[in-house]
Amino acid sequence: MRLDRFLTKHTRTSGKAVRQLLLEKRVRLNGKVVTQGVDRINEFSRIEIDGEIVQGEQARYYMLHKPKGVVSATEDTQHRTVLDLFPQALRTNLHIGGRLDLNTTGLMLITNDGRWSRRLTQPEKKVPKVYLVETEDPIGAEYAGVFQRGIYFAYEDLTTQPAQLEILAERRARLTIHEGRYHQVKRMFGYFNNKVIGLHREQVGELRLDAALAEGEYRALSAAEVALF
Ligand code: URA
Repeated sequence: MRLDRFLTKHTRTSGKAVRQLLLEKRVRLNGKVVTQGVDRINEFSRIEIDGEIVQGEQARYYMLHKPKGVVSATEDTQHRTVLDLFPQALRTNLHIGGRLDLNTTGLMLITNDGRWSRRLTQPEKKVPKVYLVETEDPIGAEYAGVFQRGIYFAYEDLTTQPAQLEILAERRARLTIHEGRYHQVKRMFGYFNNKVIGLHREQVGELRLDAALAEGEYRALSAAEVALF
C-alpha cells in the first residue's frame, strides 16, 4: 500500500488533507520526515504523525543457539521455552521459524515477520537443514543410499525428499534434509533401528550457526542474512 492511501484511511480525511499533512512535515516514515505519499509501506513500516506512532513495529530477526531442555514453543507449562531466553522487552510478537525437539541443540531462527518465517518452513521451498547426528549404534555404509532414495513415513503417507549423509565417525554423521517432518532425523535413523542420542542443527539454508554464540545465546541477523530467505 502507498503511504498516502494509509494516511487517508487512518486519518479518515481527504487526499487533499493528507497532502497538506505531508507538506507540513508532520509525517515520519521509519524515522524520516516525508513530504510525499508515494512510498510503499507494509506492516513493519513505522509511521508517525505529529510524533505519535500510528503504526510501527520494526521487523526483527534473530539466530539462537538452542540449548537442550528448552522447548521450541512460545509458551509451555512444564519447560522453559526458547522465548524465555530473550529479555521480556524483546519477546512481543516473536515466533519461531521451525521447531527443534526438546533435546536437540543448535540453530533456531526467531522473528516477528510471519512472511519470512513461512519461507523457511514451507516444505515446497525445500530449504536445506544440516544436522550433526550421534547414534547409539554404528552407522552403516548402506544408510546413505537409503536416505538419498527417501524413506516411507506411513503416518504421513509420504516418502522423504532425498537427503545427504556424510559419515564422520563410527557413530557420528552429518545429515542434510530438505523438509522438516515431525522427528524426521530420529525417524530416518529409526528405519535402521539406530537410536539418535545427540542431535545438533548446524545450518539452515546458507545460514550457519555463529560459532561465537554459546548455548542459550542469540544475536540479531544482519540484513544480508535476512535476505538469504
Ligand atoms: N529431526 C528430529 O528428529 N529432531 C529435531 O529436533 C530436528 C530434526
